[in-house]
Amino acid sequence: MPIRALVFDAYGTLYDVQSVRGVATELCGDKGEIITQLWRLKQLEYTWLRSLMRSYQDFWLVTRAALEFSLASVGIAPAAALCDRLMSSYLHLDLYEEVLRAVALLGDYKLAILSNGSPTMLDALVNSSAVAGCFADVISVDRVRQFKPEPACYALVEPALGVATAEVLFISSNGFDVAGAKRYGFQVAWVERGGAAPPPENSVVGPAEFYRMIRGRAEQLGYEPDYRVTRLTDLAPLVGR
Ligand code: LAC
Repeated sequence: MPIRALVFDAYGTLYDVQSVRGVATELCGDKGEIITQLWRLKQLEYTWLRSLMRSYQDFWLVTRAALEFSLASVGIAPAAALCDRLMSSYLHLDLYEEVLRAVALLGDYKLAILSNGSPTMLDALVNSSAVAGCFADVISVDRVRQFKPEPACYALVEPALGVATAEVLFISSNGFDVAGAKRYGFQVAWVERGGAAPPPENSVVGPAEFYRMIRGRAEQLGYEPDYRVTRLTDLAPLVGR
């Protein structure tokens, strides 16, 4: 089946969620690293819990709650001023270094984003980055008030872009999102952002390594990606560019 549109996940795929580490370390010292990892783990966990509970709150609120949990769990009071500063880092996360080149290589295709991010978060993030204006649509799951991998989220793409599901290549670094998108019916590329890190020597691992072990690997959910790449520029030859 030909590919007519490329749809990207945002957090972890185009934008590096690990880039909150700098502010977290500046504000929380040597607990910055564990806060960075717990925050992302908890943020996604809350999206799934809220989906199961049928108790939607947008991704900004979910991210804030996950941050408060993470701070408290390492013994730091989640004071409003501290949380505000950490939250603001989510509005200008670093783009992965190859994204701009990849978008330039793929520009003949319809390009879009499908993200859990709320519209306000995604506007701030995309518009303050070098890829502002490169996407035909920035689709937030907020339109259906559910989170990926709920199929209703992926179903937003076809009407938004006017491209049949089977002609969409969906790209994500998040294993659960790869499985959800494949289950839904997209062609799927997994960006292996975690790299092929070696297994640990023993049980003594740091927070970043522990995070990579949980989230840096393909999920065992029975839905394999069509393609595996290590960076987004590797997509170009796959689609004939
Ligand atoms: C997103 C989450 C999955 O951008 O990172 O939708």
